[in-house]
Amino acid sequence: MDSRLLLSALSSERAISGTELATRLGVTRAAIWKQIENLRELGIVIEAAAGAGYRLVWPVELLDAATIRAGMPPALRDRLSELDLRWQVDSTNSELMRRAADISLDRIVCLAETQSSGRGRRGRSWHSPLAGNLYCSVLCRFPHGMAGLSGLSLAVGVAVIRALADCGIDEVGLKWPNDVLARGKKLAGILVELGGEFLGPCHAVIGVGINLRLHAADDAIDQPWIDLATLSDAAPPSRNRLAAHLIARLLEALDEFATQGFAAFVDAYGQHDLLAGKPIRLSTPQGAQDGIAIGVDERGALRVSESGVIRSYDSVEVSVRSI
Ligand code: BTN
Repeated sequence: MDSRLLLSALSSERAISGTELATRLGVTRAAIWKQIENLRELGIVIEAAAGAGYRLVWPVELLDAATIRAGMPPALRDRLSELDLRWQVDSTNSELMRRAADISLDRIVCLAETQSSGRGRRGRSWHSPLAGNLYCSVLCRFPHGMAGLSGLSLAVGVAVIRALADCGIDEVGLKWPNDVLARGKKLAGILVELGGEFLGPCHAVIGVGINLRLHAADDAIDQPWIDLATLSDAAPPSRNRLAAHLIARLLEALDEFATQGFAAFVDAYGQHDLLAGKPIRLSTPQGAQDGIAIGVDERGALRVSESGVIRSYDSVEVSVRSI
């Protein structure tokens, strides 16, 4: 039996007995028990009360390709060439990096209900419980090499903020380069990976993970996190609706970036820049450097005032200094 069928049969409103589930799905109670354990291992929180049966601790909305497409503005829906919706994949980014070998593919999106090896930046893993959050990647081709792509991940941050605002979530900002934070904690992550030629045709796989609902007891994440359930008093936006807006905003941003580069996003980035005006500490190869963050330039580099001298940094670790 497919664990997807069992998950669809479970409810958050009432407990359903193992016997009833077994009858409905035409399998043994032992098979139900095994799949309940499997769902739990994948991150679904299921309550079991003796005699009563199994109950989901919160409602689960599975992703549906037709609903997602229908939720996109028609002009952007036409820009999407394929929506590849998976139950489980190692990583949606890895999947599209593999598929990128077929050079006929462009603007395809991969979504997964869970990732067995979700990846974050700097070699970190990305916790990816089943059917709780969004795990989304887009493959996009660029004809003129990688040099012009320096601000791409920041532009993606702006697209994520716009998608969240489309769903009524406003309390969100960007910590350079592209951490999406709310109340000082990580709400979403962006991982952009490049392939192809440095000076010629190349491609980017843009991965976005958004925390919709994480289990409070989750200790698999090594940084302070927050989810949309917390930001919206336990009523997070529909996953399908958020996926539709996310994909639409990403495709829109990619079109804008392809023609105008990051320059088109500098102002929008500035409106959500959580570091601007703050005292920061940079970890550079030469050691720690203190300064005041003063925004980003047209390539997406961080501008820092260091005792009155303005410097730009393309890639550096930043933390906010308390004064
Ligand atoms: C970060 O460390 O902040 C980046 C996290 C990026 C996570 C997303 S989830 C979808 C895509 N697939 C991955 O394996 N990673 C990205």
